[in-house]
Parts: sequence; structure tokens; C-alpha cells
Amino acid sequence: MTSNSGEQTTTIVIFGASGDLTRRKLIPSLCSLFCKGRLGPVVQIVGMARRDMTSEQYRESLAEGMGDFEDFSPEMEEWTEFASRIHYFRGDVASASALQGLEEFLKGIEAPGKPANRLYYLALAPSLYGPAVLNLGATGMAGATGAWRRVVIEKPFGSDLASAQALNKSIHSVFSEDQVFRIDHYLGKETVQNLLVLRFANTIFEPVWNRNYIDNVQITVSETVALSDRAGYYDQAGVFRDMFQNHLLQLLTVVAMEPPSNFQADLLRNEKVKVLNAVRRVTPETAPEIAVHAQYDGYLDEQGVPADSRTPTYAAVRMDVDNWRWQGVPFYLRSGKALDDKRTEIVIQFKRPPHLMFQQEIGPNILAIQVQPDEGLHIEFQAKTPDEKMQMRPVDLEFHYDDSFGGQAIPDAYERLLLDALNGDASLFIRSDEIEEAWEIMDPIIQGLARSEAPLPAGYAIGSRGPDEADRFLAKYGSAWLHRDWQH
Ligand code: BG6
Repeated sequence: MTSNSGEQTTTIVIFGASGDLTRRKLIPSLCSLFCKGRLGPVVQIVGMARRDMTSEQYRESLAEGMGDFEDFSPEMEEWTEFASRIHYFRGDVASASALQGLEEFLKGIEAPGKPANRLYYLALAPSLYGPAVLNLGATGMAGATGAWRRVVIEKPFGSDLASAQALNKSIHSVFSEDQVFRIDHYLGKETVQNLLVLRFANTIFEPVWNRNYIDNVQITVSETVALSDRAGYYDQAGVFRDMFQNHLLQLLTVVAMEPPSNFQADLLRNEKVKVLNAVRRVTPETAPEIAVHAQYDGYLDEQGVPADSRTPTYAAVRMDVDNWRWQGVPFYLRSGKALDDKRTEIVIQFKRPPHLMFQQEIGPNILAIQVQPDEGLHIEFQAKTPDEKMQMRPVDLEFHYDDSFGGQAIPDAYERLLLDALNGDASLFIRSDEIEEAWEIMDPIIQGLARSEAPLPAGYAIGSRGPDEADRFLAKYGSAWLHRDWQH
């Protein structure tokens, strides 16, 4: 049953309605879904925040965030129609009486006599997730007869295992797990979903997708932006919490998981949990052996960052997945801010041929999945150079979304995720046990590198590829980061 059925009305309630996420991601994605006719005729949007404004003023403020939308103008017909479904309700989500008021407001706009579904989206400061959920429970807004209630929760989900468990506990005291949709927007990216297709809708990859043929896997999420005005906030988190616990570990699970017996949310997530469960644990004492951390030059001078901060803006970690498929295959994960390139890439480096009969050193086969930008993939292999004796050089087979799908625009990850949440499909959302496993992996690494006994964060120049320590770190295992400037 989908939310779009004519028999039902659905309201999307956004808590944190005046925030950046709502303006930059949620509203443009919902508007795009509306324009594609996917939102259905009966969906309304209610934004709630503390700021005093009318619905009209709220719509105007949202129109300002639609800048990236192609040819957007607040006068365009689609926007006018879409915006007429947006309402604003002023209130503090941490106050039960404000939610009581919201409940009355919602009843007033929901069509009488029809099942009134609700998707509550927590686009809030993380400290408000618990209070918001508990208040939804206390005011009886978490359940309804004959209609569904769901809650979407943004990252960060906790800041360590204990806080994530406490948050899960609060949430489960109000909502059942099948009502909860924890977001990791990386799973909404087309190329990440395509990884599932690549692996499980093709036969040529599976036979080699294991320790017999793969030498190592490298997952890189590099960003060019420095932290500037986000630095004070970021300093509480650092790259492990901001990128590894969620996005990088999610990419790892999709690369390493076993095929589920069908594409059903819980079967898929069971397989992902098994991977996380198999990731080798370290202790805070041994963590520096499998991880390096670094700060870009000048990070300590950013506003809001203490002069002695050890918060990393870059890290590289080796993870081992202790199961039959992956025994002995290192997964190297790295991510950082203020680097030379904005790129998310998964590189599968295959083993070299067992015997080299040609008198030439050759590199291994490479499968590089470009999550973003220039979404697609490359397979690098050796080819004979024409008109030379037995000389070889690496060549490249490639697939790019914009070539193969006629330039069709790749939607923002939030479009997929919002639609799936409306349709009740949790495949691309994180289950409570998955979140907790991921924290269990990351906690000792975070603690270990924060200890005074651990090496201080290395430095790296803004616009560089990261610290030299990350190269030496891989060399220690006999590997090297793969850098290719794929020409397309
Ligand atoms: C967010 C992090 O989750 O992901 C940000 O908090 C980061 O620090 C962002 O910049 C990266 O997302 P994307 O989609 O631009 O790769």
C-alpha cells in the first residue's frame, strides 16, 4: 500500500522546519517529486519551528533555497501549486503542549473521514531527537487506527554506542522499529544502489568477488571544503563520527555483504548487519595500529576550535572482515576535508596473475566504482600495445550514467529516501542493530586516537591528497592508494 493512494491523506511534518537541511534538501526534493507526479494528490507538508512567521513567509523563505532547481522562479506554476500544500506551525518540539497544539492543527488540515497518514521528519539538532520522540508518544501522535505514523531520523544518530543505545531505547518506547527510518543519505545515492545491481543482477562479478581474486578494497570519500563556520560544531564530532560511522561503513557493507534471498528490507539489512558484526574489533590501545588521523593545516585556527584540539578532519583506517569471503582482504577506508578533490570512489584492486610469463611488470586489474561525481565505473585491464612485440599497457572499460542514460539527471539522494519512507520501504534505511554495530566498531578507534598516548594528528596542506602518513600507513601493509585521473 503506498501513501499515494487516493483513499488516504498523508502529511509530512518537518520538525526543524527553518533549518538548512529543510531548505536545501527536503523541500527541493519534495518539490521535484511533486513535479514528477510522485507525491500524489493528497500529500501536505507542515513545517514546525520556533521562529515566528506565517505560512506565507515560510513559503517565501523556502523559495530562496530552491536556487539549484533548474530554471526555478517563485512564480512558476509547479512551485505555486506545490507551495500551496506547505503550512507553517510555530512551536517548540521539546514542549508537549506545543505538540498538542500541532495535533489540533494537523487534524484541522487532514481530510475528515479518510485515513490520515503522517511522516514525521526530525530535521533537528540531535539533542532534540529524544525529547521530540517522547513528546510524540506522550501526546498520542505516534499511532493511529487505520493509518500509519512513521518517523525519519537524520544523522548523527548518537555520538557513541551508549548514546545510540539510549536513543534507540527512547525511540522504541514510542515507535516500533518498522515505523522508524534512520537516514544515511549515502544509501539514497543512485550509484550506491547500483552497487547492489552490479553485484546481484550480473553474473560476471560474483565469482571473483572474494579473497581468492581481490587483493584489497579502497573506499575514499574526499571533500574539498574546509570547515570554516562549521568548525566549532564539527570539532565535537570529527571525521570518524561525521563520515566513518555512517557513510563509509555503509559503503563497506554494500561491497562486502552476501546476497539476500530477495530484495526485502529486513533480509537486506540482516546481511549488512552480518558484515558489521564480522568487522574485526580493536581496543583503544591497539586502534593506532589500524588507523591514522590528521588535521588540515590551519584547522586549529578555525573559529570555535580549541588550540589543543585533537579532532581529526582526515583519517585512514584498515578494516578486516572476518568471514570466509573476505579473510585476509584489507578494506582501506579514508575520508577528509580540505583535500584536492571532491570524490567518492570504491576501488576493488584484484590480485596479480599468479604467474607472469611476459617480461614486463604489470599492475593489477582494477574495478573503480565512482559514486560521485561523474557517476559510473571503470575496469582497468592490460592490453597489448599495437605494433610492439609483447608490450602491454593498462586500458580502461568505462560506464557513465550520463552517456548510458541519455544525460538523464541523477536525482538527489533525498528524493529516493523521502519516497521510500512515504511508501514504507525501509531497505535503504539503517536499522537499530546496524547503528549499534557501527558504533561498536568506531568507539574504540575514536577513543584510541584521542588518548594522549596515541600519535598526535598529522598535518596536511589544504588542497593536498592528505597526509604522507596515510601513504606510509598503506605501505606498511604492502599496498598503495590508487589515484587515477579517469579521463571521460
Ligand atoms: C554529511 C556530513 O553527512 O555528508 C558532511 O555531515 C559531509 O560533513 C556530507 O560534507 C557529504 O555528503 P555528500 O553527499 O556531499 O558526499
